[in-house]
Amino acid sequence: MKLVAFLLPLVFLLVILIAETVTRITEGAIYEDLLQRGVAISRVVALSSGYSILSGDRLAMDSLAAETKNSAGDIEYLSIRDTEEMVLAHNLIEERGKKHAASIRVKALATFLETQAYEVVRQGKELIEFTTPIFFAGKRVGTVSLGISRDSVLAAQKDIRKSIAVAAAVFLGIALLGTFAIASFITTPVKKLSSGVNELASGAPFHPIPLRSGDELGELTMNFNRMAETILSQKNRLSRYAKDLEESYIATVRVLAASIDARDPYTLGHSTRVAFLSCELGRRLGFDMEEIEHLEKACLFHDVGKIRTPDEILLKEKRLDPKEIGLMQRHPDDGADILRMAPSLHRYIPAVRYHHEWYNGTGYPERRKDSEIPIHAQIIALADAFDAMTTSRPYRKALTSGKALEEIIRFRGTQFSPELADAFVRMVRDMPPMEAVDTDTASKRGMAL
Ligand SMILES: [Fe+2]
Repeated sequence: MKLVAFLLPLVFLLVILIAETVTRITEGAIYEDLLQRGVAISRVVALSSGYSILSGDRLAMDSLAAETKNSAGDIEYLSIRDTEEMVLAHNLIEERGKKHAASIRVKALATFLETQAYEVVRQGKELIEFTTPIFFAGKRVGTVSLGISRDSVLAAQKDIRKSIAVAAAVFLGIALLGTFAIASFITTPVKKLSSGVNELASGAPFHPIPLRSGDELGELTMNFNRMAETILSQKNRLSRYAKDLEESYIATVRVLAASIDARDPYTLGHSTRVAFLSCELGRRLGFDMEEIEHLEKACLFHDVGKIRTPDEILLKEKRLDPKEIGLMQRHPDDGADILRMAPSLHRYIPAVRYHHEWYNGTGYPERRKDSEIPIHAQIIALADAFDAMTTSRPYRKALTSGKALEEIIRFRGTQFSPELADAFVRMVRDMPPMEAVDTDTASKRGMAL
């Protein structure tokens, strides 16, 4: 639209200028033609009437006056008079023999040899009057005056103006369409380039822009397509690198998680069992594959913060005192700090940080409750508690699955979400007895998700 707004006034101005110039030239030509015609008629009459004046041949002069008047529709009058200004012949019979009545001269137009042309007003009509002296044998014997109506010139000029105005309007219409066509021709490839840039910027699938011409725009389009392909290929390479980096970091954290589990013989394999149970529950809750993968990694990371927990607390065989409990309870925050070091692992922070929150708001570290606790954290809390209860500890023996489920039901609505606790209990009851589950296989299943 900007291009049209710029081009259209220019085209409009050009058309107006051309129309005005053509009108002026044409009108000038019409006027000039009239002057030439008037001079020629006036001189012919002057040449033809010299002898008749001297010989007193009134009939010849009358005939000449009448024939001249009738030769063209725009001749208003013709007067032949002697040197005393007495009318000898006139197209109006009543004017003959009278003193010539001079016209009111408005403007001198031109002089052609001895003929003079004036714009005059005669009997209320605007005329162009041509006055030529009549000579015979070198002696002036009279004067011819020829009056031609200006109406015909004005009418011709009006017709010309009308025709030129119509032509200009048609030309303007064509120019308008042409301007839109040119604007579209120029802007369409630019718009396509612009939408290509937007596609590229938004990450939407990029489609190469078709080449339509071999001009500068075509070259620009071709270069843009090449640039986009380069960017996309580098982006894909970077994504692969990022994925590889994330996988290697996750592998490192797996090793770290396994090392932490291994620090305490009683918690060996804990993280992978939690991952197995959590992913099973996630699947039952209708999570898609991507979310289950996400949950599995969060499970592997959930106790990674214990790397900072001193051995004397982690491996203590007696119950922990309040101070030790406080140190132990720092592991969700420590885990979050470790994950914060890699931007690609930030998504696991909520599950890790809040897996010891209680449904009723009495957990740690933030005493969040109900829906304030991320669902992944709530699932991990269930699996974590179940695995802890079904694993022997120095200060107590492992509970059976049935007893552990009873505990989970007992804490339904306090520690655990009632709905999730019910789903978890149903899931474990549907599974083969936990004592018979090969956690190696289970962990492999979990990791393979
Ligand atoms: Fe934990």
